[in-house]
Amino acid sequence: MAPNIRERTYIMVKPDGVDRGLIGEITARFEKRGFKLIAAKLISPSRQHLEKHYEDLREKPFFPGLITYMLSGPVFAMVWEGLDAVKTGRVMLGATNPLQSGPGTIRGDYALAVGRNICHGSDSVENAEKEISLWFPNDLVQYSRSNEAKVY
Ligand code: PPS
Repeated sequence: MAPNIRERTYIMVKPDGVDRGLIGEITARFEKRGFKLIAAKLISPSRQHLEKHYEDLREKPFFPGLITYMLSGPVFAMVWEGLDAVKTGRVMLGATNPLQSGPGTIRGDYALAVGRNICHGSDSVENAEKEISLWFPNDLVQYSRSNEAKVY
């Protein structure tokens, strides 16, 4: 199968990342890597919206704490497009538990605890599609970037 240079992933700076002033740092890493930003917004999501986003985790013991943490401030929601955006995005974020995330990754450089791990990234193409339609139901921007040819 031909590589999909239009793969999309949902990346979110969580409330602790916004509070610590890391929106620019995280955005810059994706931009410099060569991904194209096709949607972004600062938003204070409702409890219902967050419960929908994390619905697969509803039975986990940490679910109530996760929702409380996610309601503690605004998040910065983004959609990035490019080759292997989902897998590469996850590598750039680092392991979910910062204890296991290597230096050079976002969590490895800026986070200490899984309950305050700064950012979220889709874990599969299927989940990316679901998350993108939940957070950006109709406001993705299609455009070309002049440096795209240099990336591929
Ligand atoms: S699991 O149990 O394997 O399904 O969970 P995991 O993939 O490790 O993590 C899924 C998301 O839950 C968050 N998480 C937590 N939040 C708060 N407290 C605790 N203890 C906790 N454990 C896991 C984790 O950061 C993942 O969030 P996202 O936003 O998807 O990265």
